[in-house]
Amino acid sequence: MAEAQASILFIGDLVGGIGRRTLLECLPLLRERYDPTFVVANGENVAGGLGITPKAASALFAGGVDAITLGNHTYHRREIYPYLDSEPRILRPANFLRIQPGHGTCVIERDGTRLGVVNLSGNLYLRAGRSAFTEIEAALGELGDDVDHILVDMHAEATSEKVALGWLLDGRVTAVVGTHTHVPTADARVLPGGTAYITDVGMTGPRGGVIGVKREQAIESLLTQMPVRFETSEEDPWLMGVLIRCAAMPRSAAAIEQILMPRPVPPPR
Ligand SMILES: [Fe+2]
Ligand SMILES: [Fe+2]
Repeated sequence: MAEAQASILFIGDLVGGIGRRTLLECLPLLRERYDPTFVVANGENVAGGLGITPKAASALFAGGVDAITLGNHTYHRREIYPYLDSEPRILRPANFLRIQPGHGTCVIERDGTRLGVVNLSGNLYLRAGRSAFTEIEAALGELGDDVDHILVDMHAEATSEKVALGWLLDGRVTAVVGTHTHVPTADARVLPGGTAYITDVGMTGPRGGVIGVKREQAIESLLTQMPVRFETSEEDPWLMGVLIRCAAMPRSAAAIEQILMPRPVPPPR
């Protein structure tokens, strides 16, 4: 019988406490269904919709997340700055400026398999000091030859940047997954060179809002063009992610499956 290959569960932007709770409640069901070797989640919106705190990150690690990626909201909470330097398993985009806190790559190991994780930020409509397309080479160089698989989270607004990065890395990494827009795309596939790809995995948060924000507040802001205080919606939370099955060949994928799952309904009291 062929040796079982590793798999990676990647989960899109956790939005607020509702996103964190949805993940933690879905995870046991997903473990039963898929038995993932690694769990990686984007946590850039987990602290009240913007940024992440050491407490929220620790809760995710304690709940079974192996690595956390971030994005344009990385630095919203000051208390995370020292944590970004001291905790190897939390990543901010590798193409931010070198002087900014944190790092953009890490390696996690389970059952003898080593997974390298890279976080990148797009350059269109987002503030990232350096080009994702040149800095990915430095990030892959940092990981070296000593990893079995590589997952890249490309946190970007523009679909073109994400599609282009997928093609640039096809055959060189196990998966390129897009985040940031909070809306999942329908293009998950393994590219011809063996890289699993999706333009955006979506968010883990409330579908009843506007990309996470209470919909009446988002609509008021758009209608009046005046400042409006945004709060995270709690309505209709879903988990959105992908399951990547790694191939026997290093740094390549056999399959990618989209996961769109409502928060389990709690049993009646
Ligand atoms: Fe986000
Ligand atoms: Fe973002």
